[in-house]
Amino acid sequence: MATPPFYDPLLSYEDNYAHGPFGSFASTAKTAPADAAPRERFLGIPVHSTFGIPAGPLLNSRFVAAAFAHGFDLCVYKTVRSKATPCHPFPNTLAIECSGDLSLGQTLVAHACEKDRAPRSITNSFGVPSQPPEVWQPDMVAALRSAQPGQVLIGSFQGSGEGVAQIADYARAARLVAETGVPVLEANLSCPNEGKKGLLCFDTEKISAIVDAIRKEVTDRPLLLKLAYFEDTAALQTFVRTLADKVDGFCAINTLSARVVDANGQQALPGAGRDISGICGATIRWAGLSMTQKLAALRAENNMNFAIVGNGGVLTPADDAAYRDAGADAVMSATGAMWNTQLAQQIKKERCHEVK
Ligand SMILES: Cc1cc2nc3c(=O)[nH]c(=O)nc-3n(C[C@H](O)[C@H](O)[C@H](O)COP(=O)(O)O)c2cc1C
Repeated sequence: MATPPFYDPLLSYEDNYAHGPFGSFASTAKTAPADAAPRERFLGIPVHSTFGIPAGPLLNSRFVAAAFAHGFDLCVYKTVRSKATPCHPFPNTLAIECSGDLSLGQTLVAHACEKDRAPRSITNSFGVPSQPPEVWQPDMVAALRSAQPGQVLIGSFQGSGEGVAQIADYARAARLVAETGVPVLEANLSCPNEGKKGLLCFDTEKISAIVDAIRKEVTDRPLLLKLAYFEDTAALQTFVRTLADKVDGFCAINTLSARVVDANGQQALPGAGRDISGICGATIRWAGLSMTQKLAALRAENNMNFAIVGNGGVLTPADDAAYRDAGADAVMSATGAMWNTQLAQQIKKERCHEVK
């Protein structure tokens, strides 16, 4: 059942940041029934459930507090940077027309989201905006305080610049996030909305250098890597074999990139480099499931024990179950949760008889 979205796509990112969250997330009164003692573990941490909201829709501590209060037990604070970075111009979220699975290379028609109708899929294009650390660090501390026992806040971050400067900036951003006390870090390596440089996560050598630099700065807590969909299974194999010992898990997938046009065939999102943007929601579920299966197979074949956080197109408890069947240790939903704030509770209800 659709509820008004907690991130309002008809408002700018700045207005959402200043006035959100909306709909039932406007109140942080606890709506989820009281959980008994935590029954599951995420990266060794006791949790009520291994379900939550990935990096993106939880813009600040008010959004995070509302998500925790609604029973999303794993919450990722939207990706931050080591310095203030503006958001791409409005609009940043459009509904897309695609009734089936998105094909790689497909062009999609987009239009404004309708007020009270949940889209199956959307495109999002923000450019990884960030408040300066002086603002987001204390806010991340506030977000952390809203976690109850059995709930985990994850701090997502990204490095800026090119070459060695970018490697150093990933390490700087990781340290700034760790200073807030968040128990788990996540490096975003897969943002599709930053021009046409190609996705960072496909450059295994560079990621290895980034992870080494992060690990020098932060030694004492789990590190997840946020990945895009790897079409090339051999490339994924090389990536996993190189990185698996250095990190604690992989979160997959970020959005799939596609060309997005309006009803007249013109670029739908204004500005240079925004002809291609990230697609999320039901239409990319196949890709998230495929990555989860591939990661799980590699883990088994190589006797590895990294965690897999599955996401992409989780709109219902059945989608959550499909990810767990594919090998995910935890599951997250961005688009689905935005329009269904009861999703965590619905999934808990379905899963309560399965979890030992
Ligand atoms: C509004 C919105 C903002 C997002 N911003 C980020 C971000 O800052 N960092 C990131 O790693 N992923 C970001 N994402 C991608 C999501 O974390 C997720 O990987 C993707 O949306 C696929 O999941 P879904 O189909 O459940 O939406 C964003 C997604 C949405 C919908």
